[in-house]
Formats: sequence, C-alpha cells, structure tokens
Amino acid sequence: MRFKNFDIPAFLQEYWQKKPLLIRSPWDAWSNPLEPNELAGLADEDHVESRLVTQRNQRWELEQGPFPEGRFGKLERIPWTLLVQGVDHHVPSVAALLEPFRFVPNWRVDDVMVSYAVDGGGVGPHFDHYDVFLLQGLGRRRWELGELCDETTELLPHDDLRLLADFRAVEEWILEPGDMLYVPPRVAHRGVAIGDDCMTYSIGFRAPSRAELLTNWAESVSTDLSDGDRYADPDLAEQRNPGEISSSAIRSLQAMISETMLDRSAFERWFGQYSTMPKDPDIDWRPEETISSEVVLQCLAESIPLVRNPASRFSFIREQTTSLLLFIDGRCYPCRDEVTAFAEQICASVQFTFDAQSSLSIIELIVELVNQGSLAFLDQEE
Ligand code: SIN
Ligand code: CO
Repeated sequence: MRFKNFDIPAFLQEYWQKKPLLIRSPWDAWSNPLEPNELAGLADEDHVESRLVTQRNQRWELEQGPFPEGRFGKLERIPWTLLVQGVDHHVPSVAALLEPFRFVPNWRVDDVMVSYAVDGGGVGPHFDHYDVFLLQGLGRRRWELGELCDETTELLPHDDLRLLADFRAVEEWILEPGDMLYVPPRVAHRGVAIGDDCMTYSIGFRAPSRAELLTNWAESVSTDLSDGDRYADPDLAEQRNPGEISSSAIRSLQAMISETMLDRSAFERWFGQYSTMPKDPDIDWRPEETISSEVVLQCLAESIPLVRNPASRFSFIREQTTSLLLFIDGRCYPCRDEVTAFAEQICASVQFTFDAQSSLSIIELIVELVNQGSLAFLDQEE
C-alpha cells in the first residue's frame, strides 16, 4: 500500500501534533487487508488483547477478551464494537499498513489496532494521549471532533471507560473505505459506525510521559550505584542553627542526582534498550534448531530475503559517521564500519536481501538476530 496523494513534509509542518486532518483516499488503490471473520478469529486467541464495547439503553459496558466463536452472534441488535490491539504483530497484510507511515521514527510507532462495529457501534466520545491515523477499512463511519482536552476535562463516572461527560462536536465527516483522519493527542473524538461491517484501522503512535521516563531511567541508573556512594561533607562548617539545611548541602545533594541522571551516553544506551522492548514477546520467531553461520551464508547466497519479526522493534543511535548503537528487542549491539550500513538497512526496511559476500561480523550478527527471533529468512518464518 502506497500513498499517491499525501504531502508528507507539508503534513509534518502543518498538522503533526498540531491539528487534525481529513485525508480522502490518499492511496494508489485501497483494499481492505483483513476480513471481519479473521479479526473475530484473533479475538478468540489468548495471547491477543481484545475488548468488546456495548451500549444498552445509554449504558456503556466493556468486556475484555478472548471471545469465543459465536459470542458476537448473541449480541442481539444492540450497538457493539470489537477492538483488537497489535493486529500488525499477527497479520502481515496489516503490518504492511505501517509502511507508508515510516516518516515517523520506529520508536514512536505503537501498533495497529483494528475495530469492527455494527450499525451505531463505537467506543464513545473520548480523547487519547497519542497521535493516531484512523483509517477506514470497510464500511462507513461518522467521525466527530471536539475540543482539546486535558487532565481537568470532566469524564463520565465509569470504572473502565474514559468517556467525556460533555462532548460537543466542532467538525464532522463521514469516512468511506480508504479515507483517513489524523487526530493529534488530546483532541476529543467520537466515531460511530454507519451501517454494519464497519472496520477501522488505528495506526497508533506512542510518546513516553515525563513520569514514565523519570521513574524508569532513575530505576535503571540506581541499579549500578553502590551503597557506599553517599553524600559527604568533609568541608562542613559550624552552623548557627543546626536546624538549617544549608544551600551548599542542597547544591551537593542535587548535584548527586544531576551528575548521574544527565549522563548522556548512559541515557542513550538505556533509552535505546527501553524503547525497543518487545510489546508482544509471545510472538516468538526463534528457530526450533539454532541456526549456524554456514546456514546463514547459504541462505544469503540463495538470495533468500530476511524479514523482521513484526513484533520486534528496531532502532539505532548514531555515534560517529562509521559507528552506531543498534537496538533490537531491548538489546544493544554496538556496530562499526561495514556493520553500520547493515544496521541502518535493517532499521529502514522490514524485508531485504543481503550480499552473501558480507563480512564475518555481519554474518555473526545475523546468526544472533535469527536465533533470538528478531529476524528470519523468509521461508523459515513461523
Ligand atoms: C475505533 O476504532 O472505534 C476507536 C478508535 C479511536 O477512537 O481511537
Ligand atoms: Co481514540
């Protein structure tokens, strides 16, 4: 799937993280990548995260999956919607939907959530903390957009759903298959299916909260610190009032934190690993038998493409022109010289072929990545 009419630089400059945008069928040709019954099949699996939202006489209910076959047939004629998270990790044709969105860095990509709704179904008015492209796959949906929300926006009392108490639409559109609506973080929105068989693909992004970053980075930093690394005051001067915490003590105490927390190279290593932790470790591509470098060389000689596990995350941080830190599935691989170009290639494309003349270091890296299930040769894919 490729964009035909979508000006990416103009979008980034004017809309990304700033304001919503309706994009009418930007594709070469649109074809819905997943059938409703395939989605229902996924919702029946234990390791897939799914939810069912129903509305009965103005009462909203949320049920967590898995849902056995036949569950949806028993829902009478009430509006309902099924939502399945991380469908890109399970279905290659849905993973392919992410490719046109690679103008956003890998570490910002979350997943593709797919919803199926009957007439009138939806999740109610709400806001999300993340950017999302709402792509209409099948059927039609009315999208209404409201105000920008924040922590003070009033919500309906509900244990599981964060629905807005007072939603007023300021814009609305009906999306047809192939149409797409970009919604920036915190913009109120409501999507209601018009007619049955309404499927929407949410291309979702993520952004760490300051609290999440601070907590996790502090935890990581502190594991390497010794108990003997403590505040010291060999220059202690007699105080007039023993109750005062002096400004020099505060300065030294705060320096203990900032010196440690502001270590840029330690932060790079940590963040690369943290942000590439796999979301779905159940999608295990490790080969039954460990692969050797001879087998890797042979596959490369036969030009068998390498594919990335769609549940794995690939990123790098450049160090110098010829070196970088490659991060995959929470691990860090320092790369230099010819391995650098290889690392850039696997971060840039989900499938590629590689020259069999590759250096030993590249072969060793491929062996490791295949054996840990982050990469696979196309015909060996699980
Ligand atoms: C949906 O697909 O119905 C919900 C998507 C969203 O509002 O974020
Ligand atoms: Co939403």
